[in-house]
Amino acid sequence: MNLSNNKITDCILIDISSIQNQSGNITVVENNKDIPFSIQRIYYLYDVPGGGERGGHAHYELEQYLIAASGSFDVILDDGINKKRIHLNRPNFALHIVPGLWRALDNFSSGSICMVLASHKYEEKDYIRDYNQYKELKKK
Ligand code: TYD
Repeated sequence: MNLSNNKITDCILIDISSIQNQSGNITVVENNKDIPFSIQRIYYLYDVPGGGERGGHAHYELEQYLIAASGSFDVILDDGINKKRIHLNRPNFALHIVPGLWRALDNFSSGSICMVLASHKYEEKDYIRDYNQYKELKKK
């Protein structure tokens, strides 16, 4: 399987539409409207211990929207050449991570929740978990 040559600049922070009023806000994500892929899976990360790191892998095909549903955390994107750290701290913003990007998450605030909208069901063979292998595949 070929690894996409997507770059960190292909990962965009999206301001998701929200309905705001004094009694609180609602943010809506509808397939084929607010998101450029069909959502096949939703999962969320929580109770990450202080100082903890998650991620540390890339995907061949999976694309994701990452949302700080509560609290905040950082996403470090790496395309094998450049790296970028993005702080997510609002539930109406999503970071679109395209296929072929190495990502790690850290700096989780206490009680934070990272919600992930994913384009595919879970498949371990879609993961690249070895950074050196990732760098080699990215050069091809
Ligand atoms: P992983 O995706 O590596 O977590 P993170 O990127 O947050 O560090 O997944 C951790 C473990 O959970 C791994 O053994 C695979 C399993 N897992 C599933 O079984 N289904 C899923 O949908 C996800 C996201 C993970």
